[in-house]
Amino acid sequence: MNDRNAHLLELDSGLLRGSLDREPFRIGHQLSGHPLFATERLLALCRALPEECVEYNAGSVEVGQDPSLTPRTGLSAEETVRRIAEEQSWMVLKYVERDPHYRDLLYDCLDEIRTVSEAVSPGMDRREGFIFLSSPRSITPFHMDPEINFLLQIAGSKKMRLFDNADRGIVSEEELERFHSEHPQRNLPYRDEFAARERVFELGPGDGVHVPVTTPHWVEVGDEVSVSFSITFRSDVSERRAGIYAMNAALRARGLRPRPPGLSPRRDELKYFLFRAGRRLGLTGG
Ligand SMILES: [Fe+2]
Repeated sequence: MNDRNAHLLELDSGLLRGSLDREPFRIGHQLSGHPLFATERLLALCRALPEECVEYNAGSVEVGQDPSLTPRTGLSAEETVRRIAEEQSWMVLKYVERDPHYRDLLYDCLDEIRTVSEAVSPGMDRREGFIFLSSPRSITPFHMDPEINFLLQIAGSKKMRLFDNADRGIVSEEELERFHSEHPQRNLPYRDEFAARERVFELGPGDGVHVPVTTPHWVEVGDEVSVSFSITFRSDVSERRAGIYAMNAALRARGLRPRPPGLSPRRDELKYFLFRAGRRLGLTGG
């Protein structure tokens, strides 16, 4: 457990208050060198997690990679951890909070964020942690994620290219609806003209970046093996927005042209009510 007097994260509380889940910003942390990120400990975690929580593939992919054509390496998950320096690979260990040691670390970090975040975006929920292992120079294709994320760089370096999550010229309403639908597709189509609108965050050990929900991004790893820890959560606002998009996806599938969230409070309220009612009845996911 964390010594309550020691901080794991270096956070500017004014920046956190003003920019949380609105725009990306840098943070610092004290987790590099933590024993939970040593290779043997990660191997033990890899063995303990259920198969569906360990995803890995070849690291030599394109920025605009079609996920159905993502190449495999032929290695097992454990071989991937052991040989990540020489075999071009990308791996994510998902929901690491299933292990109590990682859960304690995740919760200790998020508790530091929560001291500020509840005042601006209440309802911290679904606290989930992900550990990414990537070979030197591997690429994570252009995509977005459903969580409010703080990515902490533990070892090696990464260049994160982030885009404005409100820019509908990069991700359209229909793509956002699909993303929140029952059959989401994680990767996004990338066009070279997007490059002029990127914000680049270069991260080394001890650095981190806040990634607001559904911020489009792609990632390039530097010359060494990269280990990153993603500490994530949802809020009342992010859950509500996801529910409205899920309803919009269902409405568009029935031939309608739904209004994006935020334009009509009354309709948003009704959609979110219906989404939650459907979820209670097992009709909608989430
Ligand atoms: Fe991501």
